[in-house]
Parts: sequence; C-alpha cells; structure tokens
Amino acid sequence: MRAALIAALAAAAAPLARAAENIVTTKVRGIGYLGCQVMLQQLKFGDVNETADYFAARQASKYWMTSAVYCLDTYCKNNFEENYAQFNSNMYIYGPGPINPDPQVYRDMTNYSDIRKIDVQSKRVQAIIWNQTVIGTQLNFDNAYRTQLDFPLTEVYDHAFGWGLYVLLGAIVLVGMVNRVLGYFSHRAQAADPEDAYAAVAADDASIGARLNTWYRKHIGTPAAFGYRHNQSVGWGWLSVPTRVQAIGVFVYVALNFIFTFAAYDTFTDNLFYPGRRDMQLWRYVADRTGIMSFWNLPLLWAFAGRNDILIWLTGWSYSGCNLFHRWVARVATIQAIIHSAAYTWFEIQQEGTMADMFAEQYWATGVFATVTMSLLIPLSFKPIRAKVYEVFLILHIVLAAATLVLLFYHVKVMEGTYDAWLWACVGIWAFDRLVRYIRIGALSYKAFLGKKNTVARLSGSLDDGSLVRLTVQSSIKTKPAPGAYYFLYTPRSLTPWENHPFTLASSEDTAEGTQLNFLFAPQAGATRKIAKRIAAAGSSSTEMTVLVEGPYGQVHPVGSYEHVLLVAGGSGITSVLPYVYQLARAPRHPRKVTLVWAVRNATYASDVLSHELAPANTAGIDVHVHVSREDGATASDVIDRLPGHIASLDDTSSDTAGDKDKDAALVSKEAGKNGATLRVHSGRAVMRALVDYHAAQLLGAERLAILACGPGAMLDDIRAAVADAYGTEEGKVRGDAIRYYEDAFGW
Ligand SMILES: Cc1cc2nc3c(=O)[nH]c(=O)nc-3n(C[C@H](O)[C@H](O)[C@H](O)COP(=O)(O)OP(=O)(O)OC[C@H]3O[C@@H](n4cnc5c(N)ncnc54)[C@H](O)[C@@H]3O)c2cc1C
Ligand SMILES: *[C@@H]1O[C@H](CO)[C@@H](O)[C@H](O)[C@H]1NC(C)=O
Ligand SMILES: *[C@@H]1O[C@H](CO)[C@@H](O)[C@H](O)[C@H]1NC(C)=O
Ligand SMILES: *[C@@H]1O[C@H](CO)[C@@H](O)[C@H](O)[C@H]1NC(C)=O
Ligand SMILES: *[C@@H]1O[C@H](CO)[C@@H](O)[C@H](O)[C@H]1NC(C)=O
Repeated sequence: MRAALIAALAAAAAPLARAAENIVTTKVRGIGYLGCQVMLQQLKFGDVNETADYFAARQASKYWMTSAVYCLDTYCKNNFEENYAQFNSNMYIYGPGPINPDPQVYRDMTNYSDIRKIDVQSKRVQAIIWNQTVIGTQLNFDNAYRTQLDFPLTEVYDHAFGWGLYVLLGAIVLVGMVNRVLGYFSHRAQAADPEDAYAAVAADDASIGARLNTWYRKHIGTPAAFGYRHNQSVGWGWLSVPTRVQAIGVFVYVALNFIFTFAAYDTFTDNLFYPGRRDMQLWRYVADRTGIMSFWNLPLLWAFAGRNDILIWLTGWSYSGCNLFHRWVARVATIQAIIHSAAYTWFEIQQEGTMADMFAEQYWATGVFATVTMSLLIPLSFKPIRAKVYEVFLILHIVLAAATLVLLFYHVKVMEGTYDAWLWACVGIWAFDRLVRYIRIGALSYKAFLGKKNTVARLSGSLDDGSLVRLTVQSSIKTKPAPGAYYFLYTPRSLTPWENHPFTLASSEDTAEGTQLNFLFAPQAGATRKIAKRIAAAGSSSTEMTVLVEGPYGQVHPVGSYEHVLLVAGGSGITSVLPYVYQLARAPRHPRKVTLVWAVRNATYASDVLSHELAPANTAGIDVHVHVSREDGATASDVIDRLPGHIASLDDTSSDTAGDKDKDAALVSKEAGKNGATLRVHSGRAVMRALVDYHAAQLLGAERLAILACGPGAMLDDIRAAVADAYGTEEGKVRGDAIRYYEDAFGW
C-alpha cells in the first residue's frame, strides 16, 4: 500500500521534474562552456600567472585557452557556436576584454599530437602543473555540467515552490468565495418564506448530501481541532487551539512548506565544487530555498494581518480567523529565516570563513539582524503578553515588523532588485490598510477634526461598581451599519491619540447631522478605564468629548433567515447581541421564535442594561432570560430590585411556590406583556449544553435554529461542544443544516 503510494507519487513527480529540467535546459542552453570552465578550474597550468587577475591570467595562457576550446570542440560540438559566444561574453564580462571571436585562432595554437586525456577529479592530477593542452573525460564533463546545472535547476524549484504557496492560497480563497456566494444564495432562498419550512417535511434526511453535511458539521465544521477548548487558551494560557476546518488549512499550509523546504535537491558525490560533501551541497541549496520561501511567505504574512484586507473582503472570513493564519505564516516564515541563516553560517564555517568576515558583508549583517527581529516578534506576541500589555505588544510589533522590512531591503541589495518585489508587496499591503483606515476615520469623523465635540459619554453609576460606559458618537456622515459591525474608537485628545480599541455597535439612529452610533462597554484596566475615570472626574454622570471612529468592520450573521434563533450572551458580550435583538424585534416577519439568554454576574450591570437597551419596548416578541451567576454573590432579586417598577417587580406567586424567592424569580412586566416581550430573571448559572439541547428539541420538521453567541471563552467553548454533539443521524440528534452556530468573540 505504502509502496504503491510512493510509486504513484514518484510517477506523478517524474514528468514534473522532467518538465522543470526541460525549462532549465532551454533556459541554459549553451551552459556547456561552464562545464568546461569548471573542469579547468580544477587544474594548474605552467603558463598561468597565479598572482595576476584570475580571468586575465587564463586569457593569456596558451595551455588554458587551447584546452578550453578543445573541450568545447569535444563536448559541446552540437551547440558549439552558442557555447563559444557565451564563453566569449563570460570572459569579456569577468576578464580584461573579449577573447578572439574566431575559435580557429586557438585551434591553430593547439598541438593535436600532444593532448593529454586526464581525470580532472583525481587529486593526483590536480597536483600536477600542466605544460600542454589537456582534456578531461566524458564523465568529468558530465559531472561538471551537472554541478553547474544544479544551481539554475534548484532555483527553478525554489521559485516554483514559492509560487506553489500562492496557488494554495488562491485555491483556499476561491473555496472561501464560492462558499460565501453559495451561502448568500441559500440564505436568500430560505429567508423568502419561513412558513415553507413546515411544508418541506424532512424527506431527504437520509440523502447522501444531507448525511455528508451532518458528518461535516459534526466532525469538521464545528468542533475545536482537539479537546474542547477553542476560545479558551491551553498550555498555561500560551496557546490557542483552532477549529478543525482552520486546523486543516493550517496543516496543509505547514506540510506544504515542510515538503517544499526539503524536496527536489540533486546532491551527488562527484560534484566538482564540493566533492564528497553532499551535506554541503544540500545545506547550500536548503539555505537558498528557505530564504526564498521565507520571502514568498512575507506578503502572505501581511495579507492576513490587515483590518482592511482584500482577502477578508473576498472570502468574508473573520478577522480572528485571518489572525490565526497570520500567526502560523509568521511561525513558518521565521523558522525558514532561521534555517536560512543557520545553514549559510554553517556553510561558511565549512569553508573556513570567520564570523568577522561574514559580518563585514552588509548583506550578511542585515540578514542576521532581520532574522533576530523576526524571531523576537514570535515570543513577544504570545497570548499572555497581548492580554497584559496590549499597547506595548502592538507598538513593539509594528516597530519590529518595520525594522525587519528595512533590514531585508538591505539584505537583498546584492541581488540587484530580484527579490525587492516581495518586500514592496508587504509595504503595499500595509500602506493600503493604513490608508483605508484614515479614509474611514476621515469620512466618519471629519467634523471632529474641526474641534467639535462629537460624543456624549455616560457612566451609569460610579467608577468601579460594575457600571457601564455608554458612548454616543455623532458620525459626520450618514451611515447604515449592519448588525455585528464593530468600530475602532480613538480618543485624539489624550496622551495616546494613536491608541484605538474595537467595540461592537449596540445600536444607531439617524439624525439630521449624520448617524448617532451607540456603544456600550465595560471598563477594563486600560484605555476603557481612563474614559470611565474622565466621566467620573467631570462630576456629573456624563461628559462631552471627541472620539474618532474607524469602521465598520466585521460581518453580519444571517440569523434572520432561521425559524428559531437563540442569542446567547455572557457579560459585556451583550453588546454584540443587541443589534440582532433590535433587528429581529423590528423585522416585519421575524423568525418564529427568538430567545435571548444572558448570563451576567453583576446585578448593577444587569439591571442597567435591562432598564435601557433591553427594555421591553426594544424586545418585542423575544423571550429574554437573564441568569445571574452567583460568583459575585448576586441573586435574581438583586437585579429585579434595581429595575424600575414598570419594567418588572418581584412576582410573589412564583417565588412563593418556589419557596425560596431567590431561587428562580420569574417575571413578566405589565408593559412587557403588551408587546409579547417576556423577561425572566434566574439565579445561578445557565448550562449551555442543556440550553442547546432544549432548543434543538424544539425543532419541528425542516425548521432550523441559528445560535449566535458572544461571551467569555469557556461559555463559547461549551456551546460549540454542545452543538457538535447535537448533530447526528441517530434518534434525538439533528441534521447538519438544522443548527448553525455563529460566534463573536471579543478578542483574537
Ligand atoms: C471585535 C471586538 C468587539 C468588541 N466589542 C466590545 C463591546 O462592544 N463592549 C465591550 O465592553 N468590549 C468589547 N470588546 C472588548 C474591548 O475591545 C476591550 O475590552 C478593550 O479593548 C479593552 O481596552 P483596555 O485598554 O481597557 O484593555 P486592557 O485592560 O489593557 O486589556 C483588557 C483585554 O482587552 C484586550 N485588548 C486591549 N486592547 C485591545 C485591542 N485594541 N484590540 C483587541 N483586544 C484588545 C487585551 O488583550 C486584554 O485581553 C470588543 C473586542 C473585540 C475584539
Ligand atoms: C604576474 O602578474 C603580476 C601582477 O599582474 C605581475 O606583477 C607579474 O610581473 C606577473 N608575472 C609574470 C611572470 O608575468
Ligand atoms: C607537438 O608535440 C609533439 C609530441 O610531444 C612534439 O614532438 C612536437 O614537437 C610538437 N610540435 C610542436 C609544433 O610543438
Ligand atoms: C611544467 O613546467 C613547470 C615550470 O614552468 C614545472 O614546474 C612543471 O613540473 C612542469 N610540468 C610537467 C608536468 O612537467
Ligand atoms: C459589581 O461589580 C463591582 C466590581 O466588580 C462590585 O464592586 C459591585 O459590588 C458589583 N455589584 C453587584 C451588585 O454585584
């Protein structure tokens, strides 16, 4: 089986290798003269002045010149004219001037009865000083030719493999685009009439396509690559695990790089440059290959890093998904750079080079420093550093990345522009992203540049009591953001005007001047806390300030085309869910059943949002469940006590029957009852698995359920695992197309 596989691979590889070799041989027709030159390079001649310039001395030597022309006559006779012309131009470029354009002149100098046929690869022969015309054996010539040919041949592979990565990326992007277009049409079709879902009895449940889809969603599309953690990090907080689809993409990419790094080298013992040293040949080629592959990878590295990115626009991938690939490309390109540097260093040491000699060369020193800056970027981007000192991480990241690019420009200066294009591609991608950022800021906030305060910031309670900050930003032009959109906010009148943080748009309203963008955030330790402090310092509950907005980013999840929608939020993740709540409550024909489950620990926070953003007037037709988890010792009644009476008051009957009024207070406000909104506040944790199973069991016929979640990592991972488990073809499990899980995490 394995032998057959290898044979098949070899059979497939052979024509490719032959094709490559054909390209090379056509490209280097007339390279035969180099074979002759390499052979003569091994020998000493009595009339060569070794203290003079290499080519000048050989051009002046009768024995060397007659031997060279005789070699061309013997081994390159099929292609003599071209070879002689190449030989001449080579001597002209490197020597003091052209040789005689007429080879006959050298033939006339040759004593044909006094030519020695010798083995130029023999150490004994190489020690002799020759005073006559000599010729190596056919085997010598073949070896010398192969020695020379291997450089252009390997270079063809180097570049072919480099482009191979782009072909891979192109294929992945194409799949992403097709997926996106298909998804769009299928949602449009389904959105047309949810009622039809009942009619379409699940007749084709057993079809191969449906089964495949179920299998795909259960085993590939949904779960984490291994174990159950995806949003939570593993390995003491240092690593994150991709989903399985992402892992497949990463695996293919890494495997391809690995194969490309070590494939298709021709090393042989009789190589004339490194006789008997196949290791030196190999590492010399690997050094070139890894250097080139690393360069080819750089534009990919940048392409996966930008906020404004053609890749994202084409495929609709999430920024966090692209960020995952950004990290993997970075790891691969850095390892390649390290191998490139190490292999060249080892190679130079084999040739008795010293460190001082090496560092004296600009390309060498800049190359080493570029490898160092690239290598530093990896540990400095580990998750704990990003979590603890995000701004420090970001500044170092930008500085080191820019330094790497500059150093690399100097590193490849000796290649006279051959490799500059890859660096310019990185510069271009970077500049494009920045430019679009400024255009976005300019469009949305240009009036703020004119010194106008465009933002009202409110703090609901006091600093540090779990209170929320609400920002209402007046945009300079009208904008129509879709649910799920997020913006980066800058505070230009602060000590760090460049600092910007992403926030999901909770809601928006058109005004005469533009659009009012409403953000809601829970202050953390950094910039968000500074804003909260600023409001608190203003003495009242609100203050005016200037905020620049950059956006919108992110993608809409088409939850509205499902018959059932389950929105799950944890803590401040509620902001991400709010736009969907408004969309679904407002939609003329909203899905049959929409449930919002919000797990929150802080009673202040919960009641604040419930009396404003989630007030019954905003949640028509939606079942709202709030779970007050007990970590902070808060209970359902703590939340209800803080709510205004018209929204809710403790329902005594329910608490009486429960015996303990804090256990599970069920409440429906008078106002809420009118428009069909219900609100229940529970004490204790919401169990994600039970929630998913309960809603999956509600599905009838061909009905489908969309689950959208935003919250802490553990909560998201629980839902993801529960959804994967819910799929199946057995009794009690659901079809692959019956549940769709969408996730918005506050981080990457
Ligand atoms: C797409 C997206 C949407 C978000 N929407 C909201 C929202 O609507 N409401 C809300 O309360 N929070 C939201 N967040 C989280 C919010 O961006 C962070 O809480 C905020 O950046 C923390 O700022 P800080 O300086 O106070 O952070 P710190 O206290 O320094 O750090 C807190 C955490 O935030 C992370 N963080 C800090 N700066 C950034 C940044 N620029 N980009 C990404 N992560 C960062 C850190 O790694 C750390 O884990 C969202 C995050 C993302 C990625
Ligand atoms: C050899 O070349 C050197 C340097 O060009 C020159 O000084 C010297 O005279 C030459 N020797 C002979 C024997 O021509
Ligand atoms: C050519 O070589 C032969 C054999 O070494 C020698 O006898 C003869 O003199 C040489 N002829 C010339 C013109 O040098
Ligand atoms: C060729 O001549 C040099 C002196 O010019 C001499 O040292 C050498 O031994 C000669 N080579 C042979 C093979 O006779
Ligand atoms: C909310 O959280 C803050 C800080 O985390 C705490 O001081 C406050 O007591 C909490 N409030 C309630 C009601 O749990």
